[in-house]
Amino acid sequence: MEISNAKQVINIDAQLMERINELLSHYPADKKKSALLPVLHEVQDAHDNWLSIELQDKVAEILEIKPIEVYEVVSFYTMYNQKPIGKYMFEFCRTSCCAIRGAENLMDYTCEKLGIKEGETTPDGMFTVVGVECLGACGYAPMMQLGDYYKENLTKEKVDQIIEDCRNGKVNLH
Ligand code: FES
Repeated sequence: MEISNAKQVINIDAQLMERINELLSHYPADKKKSALLPVLHEVQDAHDNWLSIELQDKVAEILEIKPIEVYEVVSFYTMYNQKPIGKYMFEFCRTSCCAIRGAENLMDYTCEKLGIKEGETTPDGMFTVVGVECLGACGYAPMMQLGDYYKENLTKEKVDQIIEDCRNGKVNLH
């Protein structure tokens, strides 16, 4: 996912800072970088699920590390988003087991149905479709992650149903 020029309102409020400090309390005071992954999750959750460069710089400041140390982590893991994403992000696994069982076709089908390409978001801001590496549910291939949940043994019919449920507000993300 490429870097975005979109503007993001940064709001590290007292409540978020409290959660960050709680995470930091698990590590020695001079090893704040150890908390980078969970801190990024917290900060991303509190900022519409994406991390602008400015926000990554803020995280670096809080953890007293160099910005590049944050950039290299954010750009490596697909769970961190570097541009605004849709309310519902379909993360299709495209690694071996899922690929063998048709993940690529399903992702193409989903993109076509939503009128977007992989990595894009629908104009109404509802859906984003991305391909990711193995999510550890290989026995239930093909599968995707949607919010905190896995949708497994996917078929076109199941994808249709998931999209409809999202549109009708029937899908929990957390
Ligand atoms: S290959 Fe898809 S979950 Fe592992």
